[in-house]
Amino acid sequence: GEEIHLPETRFSSDGIFGTFDRASVQRGFQVYREVCSNCHSMRLLSYRNLSEIGLTEEQIRAVAADVQVQDGPNDEGQMFERPGRPSDRFRRPFANDAAARTANNGALPPDFSVIAKAREGGPHYIQALLTGYEDPPAGFTLGDGMNYNRYFPGHQIAMAAPLNPDQVEYADHTPATVEQMSRDVALFLHWAAEPELEQRRQMGIKIVLFLGVLGVLAYGVKRRIWADLH
Ligand code: HEM
Repeated sequence: GEEIHLPETRFSSDGIFGTFDRASVQRGFQVYREVCSNCHSMRLLSYRNLSEIGLTEEQIRAVAADVQVQDGPNDEGQMFERPGRPSDRFRRPFANDAAARTANNGALPPDFSVIAKAREGGPHYIQALLTGYEDPPAGFTLGDGMNYNRYFPGHQIAMAAPLNPDQVEYADHTPATVEQMSRDVALFLHWAAEPELEQRRQMGIKIVLFLGVLGVLAYGVKRRIWADLH
């Protein structure tokens, strides 16, 4: 198909020294929680995982307690709802895929657990997608309830633009432009998909340093062993 070029941007998670900018990831979680989680699940995440992006235990308990989760059966064999706990998985917005499709014009909002790895371009693609809504070019026919997006393959997407300026009010008072919210949520989704990325890179750097030192030592040893033989 047609080749789509993503805009040039930099993310803190780019490159071999990449890290997750804590403030940005936390803002991104706020965007997910207040906007995206109405349609997109993150089945592999538990609330307690949020400690890895710097939420305190108290904050995590509050975030979890804010949702009602299904539990049971109890002693009477009944299912029941209770406030979430840190050990619960993120609440799913729909009971099942059929319900999710019914609410979304037949389209299924994909689960976000590893979406940043599942899509080429990762956080770059996600940010571009969220800022890529525009009027269709002349002659492009959109299906009923569909939206035109410059960066979606085929350009016709069932998700309406989910972000509007000031849709969230950031706790750290960062201006909530669409650009900013897109960037933050894209980084949050990158963290979710590759939480071990920082450690892996640190390990890689240590290995390279170790091999460098080992190489120098080996060279010295080799020189001594062969010293008498010329
Ligand atoms: C698809 C992101 C909010 C409904 C997607 C995709 C991404 C995404 C990355 C996958 C696109 C692809 O397949 O390449 C987000 C983000 C949101 C958000 C970051 C919050 C800022 C919402 C909301 C709804 C929704 C609130 C429902 C009202 C959908 C649907 C699809 C979709 C139905 C499937 C579209 C299709 O296949 O045509 N979204 N989304 N999304 N999203 Fe969202």
